[in-house]
Amino acid sequence: MKALILSGGKGTRLRPITHTGAKQLVPVANKPILWYGIESIVEAGITDIGIIISPETGEEIKQKTGNGEQFGANITYILQSEPLGLAHAVKVAQPFLGEAPFIMYLGDNLIQDNLNPFLDTFKDKHLDSLILLRSVANPTSFGVAKIDENGRVSKLVEKPKDPPSNLALVGVYFFASTIHEAISNIQPSARGELEITDAIQELIDSDKIVESVQLQGWWLDTGKKDDLLEANRIILDTNLTINKGGDIDQKSQVSGRVNIKESSQVINSTIRGPVIIGENCHIENCFIGPYTSVGDGVTLIDADIEHSVLLEKSQVLEIHQRIVDSLIGERTKLEMAPQRPKALRFMVGDDSHIELV
Ligand code: TTP
Repeated sequence: MKALILSGGKGTRLRPITHTGAKQLVPVANKPILWYGIESIVEAGITDIGIIISPETGEEIKQKTGNGEQFGANITYILQSEPLGLAHAVKVAQPFLGEAPFIMYLGDNLIQDNLNPFLDTFKDKHLDSLILLRSVANPTSFGVAKIDENGRVSKLVEKPKDPPSNLALVGVYFFASTIHEAISNIQPSARGELEITDAIQELIDSDKIVESVQLQGWWLDTGKKDDLLEANRIILDTNLTINKGGDIDQKSQVSGRVNIKESSQVINSTIRGPVIIGENCHIENCFIGPYTSVGDGVTLIDADIEHSVLLEKSQVLEIHQRIVDSLIGERTKLEMAPQRPKALRFMVGDDSHIELV
């Protein structure tokens, strides 16, 4: 069994953050999204992992993620020269995959459920494909499945106007090698992509066995800001270990589940968890409220922030209105003159500099 993680693509929905970086490396609770997928695959006992990368962001992914040693895995990087669809990515990866069955995992997705029971079902039933489904409120925005009472899939439709169910396809799939032939039989869709839903429909139409299971836990597609903040909230809620390290002065109050790295400094501030603070941060005269992730090298002075993600080396200076629901890119600097507007909401790209005057 192998794994294929898709970490190419355009990332248009997370612009401007993705103008300069890979969306799969945007951190959730200070850890790249992609790494959660790798860890979950390794936990399921699969260590031979291929990662699809694009020419634009591939080097950064390779450099940060390495050869897999830190995860106990063996990672092979596979270049997809253009983002021509999920099934196209599988086609490009065929020399790596060979005849092995594999898990395909979208590098910007996070799921709570452990993969082992799904893997067992896929293997025990000798399926051609096992897909994961989750009921959603707005099925018209997803790939949607029609299933019978045994979970067998009869039809898949991409972003249907008239959805056959409210069951959306989650970005984790299990495939036998029969998927390669199915992919060779499909044509690009109206948006010019080789769609994995079409390839799975091709399996169904040629009487291969495609079954589904419904996820019990949460599923997040972090390709958009609000989903990313929601992923951050959930991970901080469920996975944060307490570590009140760092240089915290007498005037500061740190309460709840908070993880602060030793090299960071907290002066005259209130931090109310769950909050994670990375290495070499400087925090002075601040309130940092629940569900905030502060990346390495961040400076916060006279700032009031909650339910937000601050990427590496960003700075927030002298902003007394509370900043909420914000994603602040690497090296971004936010500072404000004394006259103050009433509300602030940011989605700011890397290297930006905003002055509210
Ligand atoms: P999407 O989020 O569907 O596509 P995208 O990355 O182009 O994003 P956007 O819609 O914001 O422009 O892709 C899901 C995952 O699959 C994501 O991690 C990128 C990856 N991917 C590839 O590796 N190759 C591809 O050809 C495509 C379409 C996506």
